Amino acid sequence: MKFSKRSDTFASQGSPLVHAHFLCAQDLYDETNPTGYLHLGTAQNHLMDDVLSPYLKEKAQVFPEDLHYACLHGAEYFRERCATLLQNYLHIPGAKSENIVILSGATGVLEALSFCLLDEGEGIMIPAPFYSGFTHDLQTRFHGRIIPVPLDPEKGYALEREAFEKAFSMATQAGISIKAILLNHPHNPTGKIFPETELRQICDFARAHDLHVVSDEIYALSTHQPTDHQSLLTLHDPDFTHLIYGFAKDFCLSGFKLGLFYSENQDLLTRMQNISLFYGLSTAPQRLVAPLLSKPFLDTFLQESQKRLCTQLRRAKEGLETTLDVSCYPTQAGPFLWVDLRRYLPKEKTPETELALHTRWLHEYKINISPGQFFSSPQSGFFRFVLAQPQSVLDELLVRVRKEKEHRP
Ligand SMILES: Cc1ncc(COP(=O)(O)O)c(C=O)c1O
Repeated sequence: MKFSKRSDTFASQGSPLVHAHFLCAQDLYDETNPTGYLHLGTAQNHLMDDVLSPYLKEKAQVFPEDLHYACLHGAEYFRERCATLLQNYLHIPGAKSENIVILSGATGVLEALSFCLLDEGEGIMIPAPFYSGFTHDLQTRFHGRIIPVPLDPEKGYALEREAFEKAFSMATQAGISIKAILLNHPHNPTGKIFPETELRQICDFARAHDLHVVSDEIYALSTHQPTDHQSLLTLHDPDFTHLIYGFAKDFCLSGFKLGLFYSENQDLLTRMQNISLFYGLSTAPQRLVAPLLSKPFLDTFLQESQKRLCTQLRRAKEGLETTLDVSCYPTQAGPFLWVDLRRYLPKEKTPETELALHTRWLHEYKINISPGQFFSSPQSGFFRFVLAQPQSVLDELLVRVRKEKEHRP
């Protein structure tokens, strides 16, 4: 049988991260399955399941108009609620519903944006390490080109204008035309919230080269302290700054695939609205999520979620650092820790030895963590552990990794 050449990239197993996810899902650890996998590979937050499930069960309502086509780039009532969320919680003054496009997940937003901003082979700069999905979303189907800008762990992953200038001039000398920067703030995989001084360096650089700045702020409300995060939209020229948000992380609703795009650039907005034909979100998740976006529920929910995240991540950091004698990046947001496991690699710290550790832990201890190479980490030996999980998972993790310490001190 013959298929299109362009679908060949989708003909095989797919990403090893997705493969590991489904391997673990069939045999997950819990108290009834104590020898199952500890799945720390997918950035999900399970800490609020006990609050969300009963709330949604009680409030879930679908209306007759939801049975039929709604505005494809998001129902008006839902975009209005989202505009209020952006104003009151992401502190974007004057955010308007007409500047919002709702699509299928932040993934859909990212791919649609790559289609609208980049012609084939055109570049988008991303500080590395970065979220592994960017590689597929920006490159696989529409062939944008990611230009990584390496961040240095010894400098606390600081954004520095010189690093951007260097990557820019190397790429332009190689004939690549650069159109945009993509920043993920707060940052997956480190959990860093970039301070204003660092964000301003990027804004100055973008201004000097006429680049769009796309800010993926999907972890904006998963901060471990209430008011840490400052949206890039409040710092940079509105015509050039575009926001990606979603409900998978802060609202612990990854299954709903609800993504949000916000921009004040009318030309880009029109393109994104029209492309929603291919990425439209069904009416039901919008209807289910709408009641969550009102006070007082939202205040209580976010406060509780941040408190649980902070407590759990602090415990996990202390536990891993003490048990394995390693250091974790001092995370400020998100459900994960970025752990320096270089001492558990042989003398050669390479992508191969890093992958070997991942495979060994998966088979020997049934622990699934994500190796840094999937985040385009410039240094080998760093791993992301997703730890917004029940306490029993964390306890079991520490029991299993203790064996690693004992056998390979
Ligand atoms: C930084 C970042 N952006 C986008 C996404 C994708 O989100 P969604 O599930 O809404 O497509 C993720 C998911 O891990 C992420 O970490």
